[in-house]
Amino acid sequence: MEEVHEEFAVISNDRKPETLNQLLRLRNLFSKALVKMPRDYLVKMIFDRRHLTYTMFREDGSIVGGLCFRPFANRGFVEVVFLAISSTDQVKGKGTRLMNHFKEYCKRDLGIKYLLTYADNFATGYFRKQGFTEEITLQTSVWKGYIKDYDGGTMMGCRLYDHIDYRDIASSMRELIREVYETVTNPITKTEIHPGLTSFPVDISSIPGLESLRGASDDSWNAKAWTIESQIGSIIAAAMKEPSSWAFREPVDEKQVPGYHSVILNPIDLSSMKAKNDRREYKTREDFRADVKLMIDNCVLFNGPRHEITRRGQETVSLMFSRIDKIVEYATPGEW
Ligand code: ACO
Repeated sequence: MEEVHEEFAVISNDRKPETLNQLLRLRNLFSKALVKMPRDYLVKMIFDRRHLTYTMFREDGSIVGGLCFRPFANRGFVEVVFLAISSTDQVKGKGTRLMNHFKEYCKRDLGIKYLLTYADNFATGYFRKQGFTEEITLQTSVWKGYIKDYDGGTMMGCRLYDHIDYRDIASSMRELIREVYETVTNPITKTEIHPGLTSFPVDISSIPGLESLRGASDDSWNAKAWTIESQIGSIIAAAMKEPSSWAFREPVDEKQVPGYHSVILNPIDLSSMKAKNDRREYKTREDFRADVKLMIDNCVLFNGPRHEITRRGQETVSLMFSRIDKIVEYATPGEW
């Protein structure tokens, strides 16, 4: 497979000569790709200081494509004004890559989880493949009058999810599929047939009937807590089975390790974490992460950073951290 070395940067009109040069190069790319868009309008949008352009560069500094956008941070959405990939690079997956990186940037750097656009009718197929739909779940009063609309365009929106890493979609999807598979193969309650899905859901709590298979009640908070508990439970169970975790499975016995409790004031181990999880004391993945971190910090403090037990502990903990990052904290309608 071809290796990809593109880089991304956000460009906005700071009036520096180098930036103005980049914006002119973007204008040329946009005006070649968006032939129907008046040139004056294009220039106005790109150089307007309220707009920014998320830009994809090749290693040699040339531009592959760009996405001109305007963040409405206090309204909780970003307007995608237009985007284009240079004509020689289209339909090679670059537009998808640009959009995925942009989504992660919106989520992580701007803290915004909703994208809106008036998609050119020729490009709605592309937007649909990027997760945009014509059903806008953001309240109309939030965006109406703020988005530029134009004839020949279709209003589309895309909600971004915390549990998906858009720059690594493949592993996020694998994790979702594993979750669904584990649930449907270990049902707790009776089987019931629901209508089929029309598209792959990014939020598995939206799958009809799945929550009832998991034994959750109608209370959405309980459903969420149950779900987090089940995921944490499976991480602890997997860690217990790791050969490297032998020293961390049970509380340290003072008789076998004299002086341990005078050095380590907050001991923690995998069995104690399991007990806490069974009591539903972990409300978020960060609560759980804090205990896993405490376990390895205690180990370093007592044994030193180079000790064999510390090395083995780090193996267990890094496996746990990578799975904690993927814990799905289900969104309930009240949260967005
Ligand atoms: N219509 C329907 N489907 C499309 C289109 C399109 N215009 N363009 C791409 N796709 C599909 C591809 O076939 C591909 O499908 P697949 O995953 O089943 O193979 C998928 O979308 C992703 O394609 P990419 O290769 O990632 O897309 P590309 O790199 O070509 O970028 C883009 C898409 C930005 C639309 C590019 O083709 C382009 O610059 N076109 C001209 C400018 C344009 O139309 N911009 C959008 C205007 S609307 C707006 O900006 C709000």
